[in-house]
Amino acid sequence: MRHLITPQDFTVEELEQLFDLADDIRLHPDTYAHACDGRKMATCFYEPSTRTRLSHESAMLGLGGQVMGFSEASSSSAAKGESVADTARVISCYADIMVIRHPKEGAATVASHFASIPVINAGDGGHEHPTQTLTDLLTIRNLKGSLNNFTIGLCGDLKFGRTVHSLINALVRYENVRFVFISPPELCVPDYITEMLQEKGIPYEEHIKIEDVIGRLDLLYMTRIQKERFFNEEDYVRLKDFYILDAEKMKLAPKDMYVLHPLPRVNEISVDVDDDPRAAYFRQVQFGVYVRMALILTLLKSAGRLPE
Ligand code: NCD
Repeated sequence: MRHLITPQDFTVEELEQLFDLADDIRLHPDTYAHACDGRKMATCFYEPSTRTRLSHESAMLGLGGQVMGFSEASSSSAAKGESVADTARVISCYADIMVIRHPKEGAATVASHFASIPVINAGDGGHEHPTQTLTDLLTIRNLKGSLNNFTIGLCGDLKFGRTVHSLINALVRYENVRFVFISPPELCVPDYITEMLQEKGIPYEEHIKIEDVIGRLDLLYMTRIQKERFFNEEDYVRLKDFYILDAEKMKLAPKDMYVLHPLPRVNEISVDVDDDPRAAYFRQVQFGVYVRMALILTLLKSAGRLPE
C-alpha cells in the first residue's frame, strides 16, 4: 500500500504514468465517472484550505466516490486532545483513503504509520505540499511540453512556502532545470535545500528583485508571504508587499514565460496580469483536479481497494 507524503514517494517514471493518466481523465472524463463507485474519502483538515480540500473532494466525486471530513481542527476530536495517530487509526475504519492537512511538520508521516488506508499529505506546516507539486508538474508538462530544460524563477516566501520546497524536491530529478530564487534575504530558501542542490551539482541563483531576472525565465512561480508562519506581526507587515508582479513588470518578461501561483494570492500578483495569456494560475487549478483524480485511482489500486 502506498501513500503520498513527499513527491519522492513516486519515481520519475511513476509520475509520468500518473500524468498520462491525468491527461486521459481530462480528455475522457466520462470513462472514469464510476471508477470509484462505493469508495469513500475522508478529508481531515486542521488548517484553512479552499483549493486543496475542495479539489480532492471534486476529484473523488468526479470518480463516482463519496466524501466526508472536517475542515477545521476545532470541529474534530483534536480539540479534545486526540493524537493524529489515533485519528488516523479511526479514520481507517470509516474511509478507503485519507487526505490530511496539519500545521505540524511530519503530521502526515505520522498518520501514514498508523493508518491502514492510503494517506495523502495535503500540507504539513512549512514542510511539504506534494499534491500541489503534482499539480504544478502536470501544468508545466502541458504548457511547456516537457519537464526538462527550463529556467524557473521561484519568488516570494521561499522560507516558509511548502509548495516551493516540494516543487524543488521534485524538479531536481529532471534534466537541465535551472533555479532562480527571488526573495528578500529573510525569506530565502532553507539551507537544507541549497545544500541538497550543491551536493547534486544543480545550478541555482539567489536574487532580491524580479526585474533583474524576469527577462531570462521560462517560468515564474509566485508565492504568498506565509503570514501564519511568522513569529511576529511586525516582520510580516514589513515584508507582505515586497513583491507585486504587475503588467508593467510583465513587459520585461519573455513572450512565452508562464506565470504560476499555487494560490491563494494576496497582493503579489496584480489583477492587471490576469488577462495576460501568460498568466496560467487559474488553468493550474483545473489541472489540480485531474492529477488528484489520477492519484486517488493509483493509491486505491495500490491498497487493493480498487481492482488493478
Ligand atoms: C498553498 C498552501 O496551502 O501551502 N495553497 C494551496 O494549497 N494551493 C499556498 C499558500 O497557502 O500560500
